[in-house]
Amino acid sequence: MASERDNNSSKAFPMKGGQGQDSYAQNSNHQRTGANITKDIIKEAILEKLDLETLLQNSSNNVFRIADLGCSVGPNTFFTVQNIIDSVNLKLQSEEHGLDSSLEFQVFFNDHAGNDFNTLLKSLPEDKQYYAAAVPGSFHGRLFPESSIHVFNSSYALHWLSKVPQDIVDKNSPAYNKGKIYFTSEDKKVIEAYSAQFESDIESVLNSRALELVPGGIVTFLIPSIPPNSKNRFEANANIIGNVLVDMVNKGLIGEELVDSFNIPMYMPGSEEVKELIEKNGKFIIEKSELLLRLFNEQLPDVRSACMHMRAVWEGVFKEHFGQDLVDDIFNRYEKKLAESIFLLDPSFKTLGQLFVLKRT
Ligand SMILES: C[S@@+](CC[C@H](N)C(=O)[O-])C[C@H]1O[C@@H](n2cnc3c(N)ncnc32)[C@H](O)[C@@H]1O
Repeated sequence: MASERDNNSSKAFPMKGGQGQDSYAQNSNHQRTGANITKDIIKEAILEKLDLETLLQNSSNNVFRIADLGCSVGPNTFFTVQNIIDSVNLKLQSEEHGLDSSLEFQVFFNDHAGNDFNTLLKSLPEDKQYYAAAVPGSFHGRLFPESSIHVFNSSYALHWLSKVPQDIVDKNSPAYNKGKIYFTSEDKKVIEAYSAQFESDIESVLNSRALELVPGGIVTFLIPSIPPNSKNRFEANANIIGNVLVDMVNKGLIGEELVDSFNIPMYMPGSEEVKELIEKNGKFIIEKSELLLRLFNEQLPDVRSACMHMRAVWEGVFKEHFGQDLVDDIFNRYEKKLAESIFLLDPSFKTLGQLFVLKRT
């Protein structure tokens, strides 16, 4: 689908909707692995860090509100939300709060307005024990009233930037990113521009959540960051598809200008970088930070499914810039390049992401 802007000006490129073979719902195993690995860490964080006493004192009723930011269409969001609810119930049973009745749960599924909320809402689990609501809008701005949410989660979404950094498309800037769609480690100025955009975006996310979180609540963020001793998996992958575009320019299939003006609006930060930004913002303390490492005895995706996964995530961005007619060609060529590269087998791409558990300072 074409891109759009949310009312607070974040550029939106929703994942491939529906339930079809090429949809995000059918091609999000990578993110599901992250959700599986973080399940117990989130449960432990809720048992240990959620201040149920304070939360309940500040509630006029027994409604417990959870928001998942950048939920896409499921099913991963349902899995994560259910884990949060089960963990809160477990905590409730294990503590004495003087409550006559159990909690009622309300879950807010947030994503850009162009997200396929129809598919999401139609596929809500039949046995769900919560009231569900869709909340369209960018998590870079305010989404909820003050002090209204008890647990925020966001998985594999905060690395999406609100926009491509302006300098990298400015021909007169030292950060101009000619002929590339992301960067390599030598492109210091381009990295700085991406990093500055990420800093500004994370700042907006933290400032908004700090207002919306009920005192005593927690925030869990799963961000695909890069640990210091790991190669940058995202950079390698983006450069494979970048090379596809350069080949297409060389063959006269697309204009050079079209490639020079295209950049991926995502940024995989370093793991220390995210930590520093949260500390610099100062509105939250980091209760836990865990790197999720890829296990190389786990089954690696085959080339076809790796390509389908990337396409389900990236198709919107490519379609907006290059047009629908070129998208099939670009991703067919990408699949071939992926098959020729050792990218999927390289054990030096170690990380699956980093989970942060935050509380208000
Ligand atoms: C890779 S998907 C992750 C979906 C789900 N959390 C999971 O783990 O499977 C990233 C989602 O973040 C959403 N997203 C990106 N930027 C956003 C923003 N500024 N506000 C709300 N949602 C955003 C995208 O539309 C997309 O649905």
